[in-house]
Amino acid sequence: MLRGQKTLLRAITRDDLECLWQFNNDVEVELASGGDPPIPQSLARLQAEYENDIVKGGRDGARFAIEADEKCIGQCALFNFNETAQTCELGITIGDKAYWGRGYGRDAVQSLLDYAFRLRNIRRVHLSVNGNNPRAIQSYKSCGFIREGCLRAHVWNNGEYIDLVIMGVLREEWLKLKSDTK
Ligand SMILES: CC(C)(COP(=O)(O)OP(=O)(O)OC[C@H]1O[C@@H](n2cnc3c(N)ncnc32)[C@H](O)[C@@H]1OP(=O)(O)O)[C@@H](O)C(=O)NCCC(=O)NCCS
Repeated sequence: MLRGQKTLLRAITRDDLECLWQFNNDVEVELASGGDPPIPQSLARLQAEYENDIVKGGRDGARFAIEADEKCIGQCALFNFNETAQTCELGITIGDKAYWGRGYGRDAVQSLLDYAFRLRNIRRVHLSVNGNNPRAIQSYKSCGFIREGCLRAHVWNNGEYIDLVIMGVLREEWLKLKSDTK
């Protein structure tokens, strides 16, 4: 649905569930991703959640599989939409570690930002990232995100308390970055 230079962002299908399940059970990926601590997840539970969502009906949310080289390498999403303030949050996990640090994350985030600002009329996109994740922070910076602050020693991560860094990008900043890099 959203085609970047390196990635295609598209709806998650049943065929993606097995690789997403493997990513969700990879402790290194889970520790980097933030949020809940690593918790085991069965394939059956993931499949049941997927089927339940379908039964509920309605539209899929702004949640995408990240495809590269014709396979699913991770997922990303916009969520926590605030219609009044026109803001939302962004999350991304590339679970296939062979694709880390090669620009695939930046490409997917750029597609998501274009979707947010141009197609969903969002004004500000924000995210939180573990302070011990320089790869993610640098990737977000290169997409226009600015570090806005941090919640000190907020996260218990891999045996220690670490900061949770808050980053955000406004539509006008995104448009300027795009025109500067043309
Ligand atoms: C975070 C993530 C999306 C980034 O995508 P990516 O494709 O790996 O990263 P990119 O190649 O786009 O950018 C990485 C940048 O960090 C830099 N980098 C890599 N390792 C680094 C390190 N240890 N210290 C500082 N910078 C580092 C790279 O040089 C690159 O910067 P540059 O383009 O300015 O040279 C991806 O690594 C991922 O999903 N990781 C696992 C889960 C995760 O961390 N999710 C984020 C939750 S907030």
